[in-house]
Amino acid sequence: MITAQVRPADLKDHQRLSNLVFFETRLHRHLDWRSPLEWLGDKYFWTVENGSQITAALACPEEAAGIAWVRLFVHSGYWSAENAWAVLWDAAKEDITRAGGAKVAAIAQHSWFQNVLVSNRFGNRQNIVMLEWANQPRVSRESKGVHFRDMIEADLPDVVRVDNASFDPLWHNSQETLRRALAQSLFATVAEDERGVIGYQVTTSSGSRAHLARLAVHPSAQRRGIASAVLGDLFTRLNHKGYRRLSVNTQSDNQTSLNLYKKLGFARTGEAYPVYTFDVPAYP
Ligand SMILES: CC(C)(COP(=O)(O)OP(=O)(O)OC[C@H]1O[C@@H](n2cnc3c(N)ncnc32)[C@H](O)[C@@H]1OP(=O)(O)O)[C@@H](O)C(=O)NCCC(=O)NCCS
Repeated sequence: MITAQVRPADLKDHQRLSNLVFFETRLHRHLDWRSPLEWLGDKYFWTVENGSQITAALACPEEAAGIAWVRLFVHSGYWSAENAWAVLWDAAKEDITRAGGAKVAAIAQHSWFQNVLVSNRFGNRQNIVMLEWANQPRVSRESKGVHFRDMIEADLPDVVRVDNASFDPLWHNSQETLRRALAQSLFATVAEDERGVIGYQVTTSSGSRAHLARLAVHPSAQRRGIASAVLGDLFTRLNHKGYRRLSVNTQSDNQTSLNLYKKLGFARTGEAYPVYTFDVPAYP
């Protein structure tokens, strides 16, 4: 009998992991600006090897300090989801504990993965809800003393500052993530006043569909109509380019953004995905 060996993944595993990700249907991958295998080489990426075969993998690299999103969980038919998770999660918890602990988070897009998380005592923190805008409401495109322009790479440190001040740490983006977001965007805008960048949005497209991937206004500048103005400007640009629909995701308990989107004509689509977290403690 071939024994299963759990070990950290490394760059040499790339081809075998690509095959696993490509061929296996039991795949959870975090929707993100980079593919899960681009995290190879980072800490918190493990594989299970049976002889010459990689039969399962788990990656939850830390993007922001202490926050480890599950970017990849995949297993072949050799395993049940529960058994593959059990061997990888044991190794993961031990390494994370030794490295100082972290909050491990995952968005469950499939019921089989949700079952694994629930049976491993992950807690349901909130849901991600999907909304869509499909018409042109009347929105002010101005906010006093604020102007908008396209985001450029040199803005990224300021954009990170706004991002990290606005969002809960679980949702912080790093500069590298925001650089990729900018590179993949259809439109990316910054809002500035006399102090510099105070807000931003990033919108992507796929075929005829546009998606508002990120929107934030610095807490010191909120409730002055800046997000409304940024979105008013975005709606006009989308219309000029022929996009008639814009989707967005937000957290079910983010009442501020839900109010904003409702006011601007977005409607819930009914799609929702639960967010689970598990606090792996540091060694006492
Ligand atoms: C959501 C966010 C972008 C709104 O930015 P903003 O510039 O303050 O929004 P606006 O001033 O244009 O407000 C427009 C509407 O949003 C709602 N809103 C904004 N702030 C609110 C608050 N603190 N409480 C309740 N509703 C609020 C209101 O309906 C408001 O209209 P009103 O002022 O006529 O009542 C900002 O609060 C933020 O960055 N939050 C953290 C990041 C985030 O949640 N991003 C979006 C989720 S993906």
